[in-house]
This record gives sequence, structure tokens and C-alpha cells, in this order.
Amino acid sequence: MPEATIAIFPGDGIGPEVTAQARAVLERCAQRFAIPMRFIEASVGGAAIDATGTPLPADSLSLARDADAVLLGAVGGPKWDDPRSEVRPEQALLGLRRELQLFANLRPIQVSPSVVDAAPLRPELLQGVDILFVRELTGGVYFGRPSERRQGKAGREAVDTVVYDESEILRVVDLAFSIATQRRKRVTQVDKANILATSRLWREVTREVAKGYPDVELEDVLVDAMAMHLLRRPRDFDVVVTENMFGDILTDEASVLSGSLGMLPSASLGAGRNRLGHRAGLYEPIHGSAPDIAGRDLANPLGSISSAAMLLRHSLGNEEAAAAVEAAVSNVLEDGMRTADLRQPDTRQVGCAEMGDAVLARLG
Ligand code: IPM
Ligand code: MG
Repeated sequence: MPEATIAIFPGDGIGPEVTAQARAVLERCAQRFAIPMRFIEASVGGAAIDATGTPLPADSLSLARDADAVLLGAVGGPKWDDPRSEVRPEQALLGLRRELQLFANLRPIQVSPSVVDAAPLRPELLQGVDILFVRELTGGVYFGRPSERRQGKAGREAVDTVVYDESEILRVVDLAFSIATQRRKRVTQVDKANILATSRLWREVTREVAKGYPDVELEDVLVDAMAMHLLRRPRDFDVVVTENMFGDILTDEASVLSGSLGMLPSASLGAGRNRLGHRAGLYEPIHGSAPDIAGRDLANPLGSISSAAMLLRHSLGNEEAAAAVEAAVSNVLEDGMRTADLRQPDTRQVGCAEMGDAVLARLG
């Protein structure tokens, strides 16, 4: 098997701490499952602004393009938050998504039985929740032009633009349906079709895609109602597909179901294949850079470690290693280890590094 090149972008805040743990897990898998891997680190985000003046230096972008997969920590922090600044750490993330055409962001929300009572919802609502969000990632209001502030007749005004063409909708919805065939065969398409023209196009294209998947049940739900259903009947959802910004918001909401944002992984995939014949992708926890706890060994590395599992599955095609990492994560939780974000009675609080070591120990 050819050697896999993994680009590592630790980024800002807690990014470097959690990514170090996930990298160690990948290194252990390389040994244990005889997967040849090499790692190349580079800077993005605020760290790159400090070092080079730009959030996504050309070297980092070409490393990402050439790699078989990218593991990213988090970007951003108060140091770079000046709203008038032309360069912002988040541009690195948007640039990578856009340049690598990573149009589908998979965000699985599962509720591990051992953390059910860490969530603020009643356990009986949460038992067995297993949702896969498929968030469109390279279109919509995040990238629409114009997006600017300007002088209007009544003073300061600003404009953002939501635009989708049918090919952008089709490819991500088709992926959602094809994943649903491997799961419980339900797709929920979330939009605001009572108001937005883009949402009406999403509905239309989704119906067309659905014709090719007669075994998959389709339901359209308005985004405001979805915000409520997610908390009232989360077990009813299987695959949820939606546009960029709705997906951003709903996945933070859904993270509450799993007890902590710190637990959740994501995979951003494009249509392209890497040199190993699998999907090229970027993997990152869905949490941000959490500057308030950065550098204090308090962060939860499980979101990043679970992202590494997704990397093994989707970009290296190694289901065995991916499942082993996921089992090790469940194991440490069952054994009562918790980072500070997940305090529960009768559990033992550990730091980021100790949590990472515990996962390694269970990987053998
Ligand atoms: C996410 C984040 C990003 C987004 C930010 C950091 C640009 O919130 O990945 O969900 O809005 O997409
Ligand atoms: Mg977000």
C-alpha cells in the first residue's frame, strides 16, 4: 500500500493540544494496522497570520492539495477578532473548503449511553439518537457575492448574498441519499422554502434526486421547526441534509444532544479521489478554538480523535482501524473518564493529554 500523506494544521487556541492527541492516535494505528503514513505540519489561521501575514499561506494550501487527507484543529481567537481587519483566521477554513471543493460536511451526532446524563435533556429522549448531518459547505451565504458594507441612502448598510445553482445542490443531496441507503433510509431536507427562493430550488432538486432512491423516505422540514424537532424528537432523524448556514447552526444545536460540543467530529469531503483511490478530505472537530481554556490541558480531545477515525474510514479506506478508534473512545467513556466539559457524578476528571493516552492504551 502506498504511503499516505497526512497534512496536519493545528491552528489556534486548543487546536494544537487536541490535534497532538489525534496525531498520536493515527501514529498508533499506523503501527497496529500496518498503514504507512507520514505527517507534515503547517500553519493556518491566526498562527499563520502572525507568522506570515496571511491566514492560508500558499505553502499550506499546496500541502493540503497534495495530501491524501488533512487533519485540522481549530482557527480563531480574540487576538485576531477586530471586525475591521481585512485578514481573519476563519478565511483559512473557508479558503481550504473552497479551494479543495469540499462540498459535503458530514457531522455525525451519536449519543453514547455513558454520557446520556451529561446532556441537559431527559435521557429517554436521547437513548439511541443517531443522526448524520450532511451540511453543504462551499456555497450559500458564506460565499455569495456581493458581501460587503457600503454607504446607503440612509447611512451605513451591508449586504450578504445567498446563491445556489442546481449542480451544487444536486451533488450534496445525492451524497446524502446514497449514505442513507446504508443507514435507516430516511432523509430530512431542511430549508426555509416559505421565504427563500434558494430553499425552493433545494426542495425541487431534492425531489428529483429522491426519484433515483425509491427505498429512501424523504421529508422536508422548515428550519425553524427543525430547531424545535431536534430537541423534542431527535431519535426520529437519520440523515439530515441542508444548506451551509442552516447546517452550521443546527449542528451546534444538535451537539447538545451528545453532552458536549467537544465530542463531535466532522469530515469535509469533495468529489475528488486521493492517490490511494479514496476520497480526499479535511477532518476537524466541530468545536472551535476555545481560547479561554487553551494551553491549560483542559480541552476534550475526543472530537479530534473521532475526526481521525473518520479520516481512517473515508480517506484511507481502513474501516477496521476507524472502528478500533471509535471503540477505544467509547471505552474510555464507559470507564468513567471525563474532560472538564463533561462533568458527571461518579466520573474521574482527566486532562486533554491523559484522555489521549487513555485512548492510546485501549488501542493496544
Ligand atoms: C464551523 C465553524 C465555521 C463555520 C467558522 C469557524 C467559520 O463554525 O465549522 O461550523 O461557520 O463554518
Ligand atoms: Mg459552526
